[in-house]
Amino acid sequence: MFSVCSGGAGVICGRPALSSDRCLFFGRGQLSLWPAGKASRLPAVAGGRPAKPAGNIKKIIYKSKMKTIKVFENSEADTLLAWCRQQPLEVEVFTGRETCRTKKWWGFEAEFYFNRSHVESRQAIASDSYLAGLRDQFYPEADSILLYRYEIGGTIGEHLDKQCFNKSVTLINLVDADSDLFGNRPTTRFRWDKQNFELRHGEVVEFDSRVIHSVPKLKSARYSLQFRKIR
Ligand SMILES: [Fe+2]
Repeated sequence: MFSVCSGGAGVICGRPALSSDRCLFFGRGQLSLWPAGKASRLPAVAGGRPAKPAGNIKKIIYKSKMKTIKVFENSEADTLLAWCRQQPLEVEVFTGRETCRTKKWWGFEAEFYFNRSHVESRQAIASDSYLAGLRDQFYPEADSILLYRYEIGGTIGEHLDKQCFNKSVTLINLVDADSDLFGNRPTTRFRWDKQNFELRHGEVVEFDSRVIHSVPKLKSARYSLQFRKIR
């Protein structure tokens, strides 16, 4: 059983496996199940023959990947970390209980309750030129930015992000722990599609948030600065 991402950008899908045209939950993010009516509208295959319908359901395989866009130099990453430390964060509350995270939203905030997402306006992204510059660099269309701080021992179980966002999310990982003699900080373990990734301090990644992902118990505190677009 998958746990629910405690508010923020994530929430369990909860939609029936075969009745949705976009539910990836039971398909582990790699497999989408198309309703029968769409099979006949699939494009023709090479050679001019039409795609062959496979009974009531047509399976389409997607090859989405976790992608590293950039890794900031340590000095740049430390500047970003210093900016994160200056942000006033509030404790995240989900279903009446405090989670392991503190947070701040810019642009639009989305909360999930009464079985749907509720979107509210928050501080304008443009009000912080440094933040707006990061948005322009990594995800110019993003209209929702979320900063999370996780303490040591923090963890988030397997989940899918809210469907009110586009599936693509860009995340900057920043580790708030002592660096070694070479200026390197510990990595952050992140799981996506049942695979382990070791995110570096200052690593910018892009991934499909409709694929199951989680944060295993942390050995170091970290910030996660996330860029999304409301659909
Ligand atoms: Fe998530």
